[in-house]
Formats: sequence, structure tokens, C-alpha cells
Amino acid sequence: MNRDPVVAIAGVTGAVGAEFIATMNRRDFRVGKLKALASARSAGKTVDFRGQQVVVEELTERSFAGVDIALFSAGSGASRRFVPAAVKAGAVVIDNSSAFRMDPNVPLVIPEINGRRIREHKGIIAVPNCSAITALMGLWPIHQKNRITRVIISTYQAASGAGAAAMDELVQSTRANLNGQVYAQKVMPHPYAFNLFSHNTAIDPETGYNGEETKVIHETRKIFEDDRIAVGVTCVRVPVLRAHCEAITFECEKPISETRVRNMLAGAPGVRLVDDRTGNYFPMPVDASGQDDVLVGRIRQDLSDPTGHSISMFVSADQLLKGAALNAVQIVEMLPQRAMA
Ligand SMILES: NC(=O)c1ccc[n+]([C@@H]2O[C@H](COP(=O)([O-])OP(=O)(O)OC[C@H]3O[C@@H](n4cnc5c(N)ncnc54)[C@H](OP(=O)(O)O)[C@@H]3O)[C@@H](O)[C@H]2O)c1
Repeated sequence: MNRDPVVAIAGVTGAVGAEFIATMNRRDFRVGKLKALASARSAGKTVDFRGQQVVVEELTERSFAGVDIALFSAGSGASRRFVPAAVKAGAVVIDNSSAFRMDPNVPLVIPEINGRRIREHKGIIAVPNCSAITALMGLWPIHQKNRITRVIISTYQAASGAGAAAMDELVQSTRANLNGQVYAQKVMPHPYAFNLFSHNTAIDPETGYNGEETKVIHETRKIFEDDRIAVGVTCVRVPVLRAHCEAITFECEKPISETRVRNMLAGAPGVRLVDDRTGNYFPMPVDASGQDDVLVGRIRQDLSDPTGHSISMFVSADQLLKGAALNAVQIVEMLPQRAMA
């Protein structure tokens, strides 16, 4: 590599944007110059990048001249509008939104699972939905050895998955609730303090599935390259500030034991076993927060399947990291054309 890349972050003032910067710093990611982009609301603000105050510019079609890598986390509307301009300007785009995930020309990549797809990109590489990443990191090591035919996932999703404003709403509404005050929610569709509710994406009136659930179903099939895998999902928002949890039950082609599963997951890249029955200690958001690894535990035979083909487990992951910023930075690290200019 002759020079360090010029990197743009579109959505730099958001929850994922902040984690892009933190992740790049932690991993000593080489950056020649950072372009900080957000909406017109943030133009003129500054973000700290390695001790320098970088002025935030409004994201426009003209933002990408000279940019080598564009990390997008500004919502799917902004991605649809501005990603083509970034690609046209010659940048490789890593997109965290859902805008291009199911496009057959766009690799949908979790590096530990299908990193080999990165080299097929035509300018855009999509980061999968955070609930999908959280589940698939724990399922892939098993699927490779004993094909998973069916999986049922129930999510417990943190406020951070809905962005910085949702995290603030959880804090403010909890404080108001404890002080006996009424809080009028602005971000979430329902009271968030001391409550939980069906995921805040739109419901398909025909299937009854919400947008998050539909993404997990379709993206699982695309990433596993397995159209036959049966996926059932229920996505729920819980009053946790950061890190998603998921209860997962899966059925395999051949019989499987909990010991086999533990062995398959021990040492799997990006996965950490947290499975202490004696101490009743299993994956929790407080332990997953700020961690790169997906925590997997409560591994047990699904007693409702007497054939011995099914296992239940519980996972937790920081979806701002492995579910977004970290996964994107890992993709950039694997790009063959990081040798630029
Ligand atoms: N949060 C997660 O865990 C997570 C995980 C995976 C993927 N994602 C995806 O990442 C994206 C951002 O999520 P987030 O949680 O970081 O949201 P967020 O905290 O609400 O931040 C949104 C960011 O996008 C910018 N933005 C919004 N509309 C824009 C526009 N029209 N033009 C330019 N910039 C615009 C905002 O700028 P201003 O500050 O100027 O408004 C802000 O920087 C979404 O597509 C989301 O689906 C999020």
C-alpha cells in the first residue's frame, strides 16, 4: 500500500458513527484523512479523531471526490440516495443500512462466515442486519458441520439498535418514570421505561412479520447460501441500553448433542462461550457491551424434540460493534484493494 486511504463516514454523529471512530482507533486502522459527514443539522460541528477536531460536513452527492472508502451509517434513505454517488466517485462503500443487502450484485458479508465474498464486490458491500449477525455468528460453526434445517429466534433488542436518540429516550423516560413524571415519547412508538414491545419496524399486514423479522429471514438465507433453511423470528425491543440478546432453538439434519455444540463453538472466531450452569451465569448485555465477541451460552438439548436433533441456546452481542461498526471495519481490513494509488 502506497498511502493510507481517505475514509469517509456518512452518519458520523450517530451511534454507529461514533463506534466507527472508536473501532478504527482500537484496531490501529490506518487512515490518511477522515471525512466526517452527516445531515445538514450537524454541518459545522466537530468530531474528535485521533486528537484532531474534524469538521462535520453535510452529506451530498459531491462529498466523495478523492475518497477511497466510504462507511455508511446514515439510514437506508440516505444510502439509497448517496451510495451511488460514492461508488461513481471511485470509493468502495461499506453500507450498514438495509438499502442494498438483498441486491444480488451486493455481497452481504460477515467476515467470519463469508468473507470470501468481499472480492466479488462491484463498489458496495453490505453489512447484515444486527440481529442476523448476532444469531448467525453462533449458528455458522454448527451449520458447517451438521446442516441446520430450521431455526427459531426470539430477540431482546437494546435501545442502541434504534440509534442515539432511542438510547436517550430510554434514559430520559426511565428518569421521568422514577421521578413520578409523565414522559411523552418522541422516538419509540410505545413507552420504553419498564416496558417492552414488538419491534418498532412496520408490520407486513399479510404475513404479520415486522421489518426486522423479515430481514433476519432473508439475510440468513443469503449469507448461509441456503434457501432451504427454515427461519422463524420474533423481534422485541427491551429496555436495555446496549447489546442485543437472542434465544435460539435450532434443528439439525443429523442428531446433535450439547457437548458437540460446545466443542464446535469453542475457539470459533468471534464467538466466546459463557455457559456456567453452576453459577447460573450466561450471556448478558452488560457483559457483551463494548466487546467484539458474540457471547454464546445456555447450550442445552431442546427437550421438546425427542429425536435429539435440536439444541437451544442464548446469545448476546454488542450490535453497535459486531452488529455494525466492527463488522464494517473487518470488511475493510479484508479488502484486496486496500493497496491503493
Ligand atoms: N444502531 C445499530 O445498532 C445499528 C446496527 C446496524 C445497522 N445500523 C444502521 O446504521 C444506520 C445508522 O444507525 P444509528 O444507530 O447510528 O442511527 P443514529 O444514531 O440515529 O444516527 C444517524 C446518523 O445518520 C445521519 N443522517 C440521518 N439522516 C441523514 C441524511 N439524510 N443525510 C445525511 N446524514 C443523515 C445522522 O446525522 P445527524 O446527526 O446530522 O442527524 C446521524 O449521523 C441505520 O441505517 C441503521 O439501520 C444501526
